[in-house]
Amino acid sequence: MPPPKSVLEQLLRAAAEVRKNAYAPYSGFQVGAAVLAGGQVYAACNVENSSFPLGVCAERNAVAMAVAAGAKRIDAVAVVGGGARPAAPCGGCRQVIAEFAAPEAPVLYATPDGAPVTTTIGALLPAAFGPEDLRAGQGEGSTGNPAARAPGTRRSAARARGSGTSDR
Ligand code: THU
Repeated sequence: MPPPKSVLEQLLRAAAEVRKNAYAPYSGFQVGAAVLAGGQVYAACNVENSSFPLGVCAERNAVAMAVAAGAKRIDAVAVVGGGARPAAPCGGCRQVIAEFAAPEAPVLYATPDGAPVTTTIGALLPAAFGPEDLRAGQGEGSTGNPAARAPGTRRSAARARGSGTSDR
């Protein structure tokens, strides 16, 4: 069951609000993201750096906040950024969201004043690489170090990764 519309609207508002704190002096592109996890909202903005590659996207910062608070599963994500048109999460952020979200988890993205685009992480990142791919590769060439094993994520969390494809 996807979160109720009112909760997704709340998530978008949180993303729009935190976007105001974006530290984006180099790109001028301010982004806010809010993650819903365990009924809580974790919001963060992009944080750029004078050493450009060290800048971090809003979505990744928001996911990190949720995980730091103990969350293991993400139920929805909202992103507010862009100007003339809404900007979907970048590829790297899609991968980070997919680590914790089921394919059907809603992802909404919007400009600060516009109507949101509503999709899912499975639609944004079909056939995603995930922990189960690591598990499937363990054995041959493995060090046997338990610390190196992929986490035993519940299938319910993420891993009905069909999302319409039939190649795997
Ligand atoms: N950015 C995000 O915060 N999220 C995305 O999904 C795409 C891009 C940020 C990174 C950088 O600070 C600025 O937007 C321009 O790329």
